[in-house]
Amino acid sequence: MSTPEQAGGPALLRYRPTDPTAVPGVRELLDALGLGRLEPEGLAGYGGRNDNWAGRTTSGERVFVKTVARDPDGSSGELDRALSFEALAPRVPTGSALRFPEHLGTHRPGAVSAYRLLSGARSGAEVALDGDFDEGLCRTAGRAVATLHGLDPQGAALDAGDAPLPPLEWLEAFPWSALQDRSMAQIAAWKLVQDDPGAVGALRRLRALERAAPRTPTHCDLRFDQFILADGELYLCDWEEFRLADPARDVGAFIGEWLFQATYSVFAPGPAAGDADAPPTGFDFTHEEVVRRGGEGIRRHLPRIAAFWQGYRELRAPDPQLPERAAGFAGWHLYDRLIATAQAHATLSPVARAAAGIGRTLLTRPTEAAATLRLHLPTGSPR
Ligand SMILES: Nc1ncnc2c1ncn2[C@@H]1O[C@H](COP(=O)(O)OP(=O)(O)O)[C@@H](O)[C@H]1O
Ligand SMILES: [Mg+2]
Repeated sequence: MSTPEQAGGPALLRYRPTDPTAVPGVRELLDALGLGRLEPEGLAGYGGRNDNWAGRTTSGERVFVKTVARDPDGSSGELDRALSFEALAPRVPTGSALRFPEHLGTHRPGAVSAYRLLSGARSGAEVALDGDFDEGLCRTAGRAVATLHGLDPQGAALDAGDAPLPPLEWLEAFPWSALQDRSMAQIAAWKLVQDDPGAVGALRRLRALERAAPRTPTHCDLRFDQFILADGELYLCDWEEFRLADPARDVGAFIGEWLFQATYSVFAPGPAAGDADAPPTGFDFTHEEVVRRGGEGIRRHLPRIAAFWQGYRELRAPDPQLPERAAGFAGWHLYDRLIATAQAHATLSPVARAAAGIGRTLLTRPTEAAATLRLHLPTGSPR
């Protein structure tokens, strides 16, 4: 059974962290920074893909320490990309909307980095689930993302390789090794795409449009849980996918987050989402009911998407095709999230199928979708 947390993305879930002293590089990094050791008391971990520790050091500094994946040869593309953002960070104008946790240092061989811990931090995922990611915050997020896209990449060694997903070869057939690692529901989710020539064709077109698009510094993994709200300020974190890419990816991902949330709020408890005692997976809803509730959720979130787009446009004039590409990436984002969500399940829920249906509409009819989402550009801009 899925829970709203699993479905809507992790909130700021505190869990008992692994023992940091057992992880190579943590002690060395804190030593090199003159911070002493992590105090075991009050040490926490936050939900994420990678091991992390949030706490106080014996020198009294509050830090967020995280590890990232390394290849067998010891190299780490994730670390290189995160550090390439830090190299560009001095170009972010002071006082701009783009805020990010301060990077204190990195132990390269261990792929361990330390950042200043933001106190009173709430994950953007939690803020969105609580209904507090309001229009004001969305506009700020739009301004932050536009600032990022406006940074001058000249002379910076940014990864210019293809951003991850969709792996187009998987649209034809799974590699056997990938099949073994996946749940039945995940395979069913992939099959929804593989068996749909319209969606596959649209993804290929999107990839081609992306390759021809002007590239900018781009976050490339922009989900709600990469935003942090601390002391009333919005921060963006987790720069491991940062690269020179199509800025429409970030715009589309942010929009896709709202659409995914709208679909999944179909069964979330609370007055806005229907009965408090609604079944948690939507299995008891008819398809029509899921679509009706999902549609209501989307209409509720349109003003937030509009506020994000307004903030974005205040600071950046996007290329004329960006709205259509962003609609396409928003569509892919829904598939991507539902595939990730399906990891823990045996069967695809009706709500997951509804998310795929919305994703398909965005992917296959991006021009109409961009208009519905009101991703307008000033009239008179060249098409
Ligand atoms: N400097 C920080 N201060 C407070 N919380 C943070 C900080 N950096 C990250 N977080 C929280 O920890 C979570 C996981 O960090 P993140 O860098 O996104 O790791 P992962 O790569 O595992 O997703 C984030 O979603 C955010 O809520
Ligand atoms: Mg993250």
